[in-house]
Amino acid sequence: MIDKLRADFNRSADTHLLRLETPALPGIDLYLKDESAHPTGSLKHRLARSLFLYGICSGWINADRPVVEASSGSTAVSEAYFAKLLGLPFVAVVPRGTSKQKIAAIERHGGRCHFVDDIMEMAPVARGLAERTGGHFLDQFTYAERVTGWRGNDNIAASIFSQMSLERFPIPKWIVTSAGTGGTSATIGRYVRYRKVDTKVCVADPENSVFYDCFTKCRRDFRLAAPSRIEGIGRPVCEPSFIPEVIDRMLKIPDAASLGAMRVLAEHLGRRPGGSTGTNFYAMCRLAAEMIRRGGTGSIVTLLCDGGERYAGTYYDDAWLAAEGFDIDPYRLQVLTFLDSGQWRPVRA
Ligand SMILES: Cc1ncc(COP(=O)(O)O)c(C=O)c1O
Repeated sequence: MIDKLRADFNRSADTHLLRLETPALPGIDLYLKDESAHPTGSLKHRLARSLFLYGICSGWINADRPVVEASSGSTAVSEAYFAKLLGLPFVAVVPRGTSKQKIAAIERHGGRCHFVDDIMEMAPVARGLAERTGGHFLDQFTYAERVTGWRGNDNIAASIFSQMSLERFPIPKWIVTSAGTGGTSATIGRYVRYRKVDTKVCVADPENSVFYDCFTKCRRDFRLAAPSRIEGIGRPVCEPSFIPEVIDRMLKIPDAASLGAMRVLAEHLGRRPGGSTGTNFYAMCRLAAEMIRRGGTGSIVTLLCDGGERYAGTYYDDAWLAAEGFDIDPYRLQVLTFLDSGQWRPVRA
């Protein structure tokens, strides 16, 4: 199984670092790490590969035994790909409301979906399924921060710094990401401390998520009833892989701002990113505006986490936005004005 994973990695190319054209922001350079280019369409491709390697090398994943995950989608899509590569049965425990596109993507890679009504049931149901079948529960929320090598040169942070090395501001002032498991921010936070570079890590948090409060109040016992409405990020409980100690700053981003910024970015790029990329981009623009206000110069990098194809019937559907009560236009105008003029005008909520 290890050889198959290594051969797959050997066939894979690294994802691009896109520089945004922002003539109205003369002293600031903005970059997007395009993780939608992975074979399974999201940043979760890296995590899935690491979870399988970790499980195999720990003796927990065995031939012909099923692997199970509790995932809202992106991770399960990537894990189904690797399970198929290894000839292992794969079961994803997903919330009943998961988008049809994501379910189809899991099944296209040969995975099977097991639906639950309450998202808080996902992990216990997945653990039970694995125990009953003699399989392995990959458990991304527990292991994400452990399985990703943060010192080596094959992680997302090392890739960003190597791709920034010939830019006019090679050491970014900020790297902005959001958190679902917390694994990506943990990897980037540890890497910048290990390399002792003068880069700060900022995590953007959507509504209906406890991460911002956990960070600002140094507590992990917050609980929320409603799940996040930005797929892939924000959690109702503080997940084990969320490591606030390696985060320098957090920003709370209104969901309408995430979706407004996502739409502006789609126009700017000429293709659609997903909702969590909108959260990242809005936070990036806020930090850039702050740097301009302080007369600073430099670069900021954030992640394009997944493509927007999966959200055609939701975030990119104006009727759906209206039905969900999202008024994105004030934020769309705010981000557009900023990119066109460098002016960051507050939105009157
Ligand atoms: C689309 C998307 N963006 C961002 C993230 C956040 O990544 P992490 O789990 O590493 O915090 C996820 C996680 O599931 C995701 O699916």
